[in-house]
Amino acid sequence: MPTASDPSLWSQVDDYICDRLVPDDAMFAQALAASDAAGLPAINVSAAQGRMLELFARMVNARRILEIGTLGGYSTLWLARGLAADGRVVTLEADPHHATVAAANFAHAGLSARIDLRVGRAIDTLPGVEADGEGPFDLIFIDADKPSNPDYLFWSLRLSRLGTLIICDNVVRDGHVIAADSSDPRVQGVRRFLDLVAAEPRLMATAIQTVGAKGYDGFAMALVVG
Ligand code: SAH
Ligand code: DHB
Ligand code: MG
Repeated sequence: MPTASDPSLWSQVDDYICDRLVPDDAMFAQALAASDAAGLPAINVSAAQGRMLELFARMVNARRILEIGTLGGYSTLWLARGLAADGRVVTLEADPHHATVAAANFAHAGLSARIDLRVGRAIDTLPGVEADGEGPFDLIFIDADKPSNPDYLFWSLRLSRLGTLIICDNVVRDGHVIAADSSDPRVQGVRRFLDLVAAEPRLMATAIQTVGAKGYDGFAMALVVG
């Protein structure tokens, strides 16, 4: 029996969980295969985590979802599956190649009409999302460049209403988050994000550590309560 700190065990347990609880929809395998073939990094959420995003979307009865960081659209597809009838996802991606792959994945899944993919650095495209009246969003998933997480929290609050759920990926990163003196701007971006969440009276939040097919990491979850 492997030990509890063995990443291969985390992956085996993820397989076990997914075999039972996570639908093996060809759309997801296809999207990952196309992303891999196009040379995209495999830094998408895991299947179990994608299913969790779908569940969150359903829990808040999401009609409007914002995602920051599309990659090949794997997490976007999970979020789109959780949408209420006539709901839409707005997803923001800086890398034109990633966006091209994502757009093809959305088309192949028959979901292009429900996903508004905007190409450009999120800090540059977020003002347009607001100006177009896309908000307020019911759910916001932050999963792009980690140093910008503080900016994305600012924009998430601008584009929120009472009851909006804000989820941020990769807030643990093998435990590096606790290194207060880290010289890694990604670690400092996550730490600043968590400090800002903690200091924000409009938010009630926690973070949950995860292990699985994508290693040791975690999600922060913040609910707009004021
Ligand atoms: N949410 C995806 C993974 C996203 S990976 C999934 O789970 O399937 C992070 C993505 O953020 C990458 O595609 C990267 O190109 C993009 N990104 C990096 N900096 C960005 C920025 N400033 N604005 C928007 N997207 C950015
Ligand atoms: C990276 C980014 C992610 O969003 C993720 O889930 C894993 C890794 C990265 O930039 O290395
Ligand atoms: Mg991520």
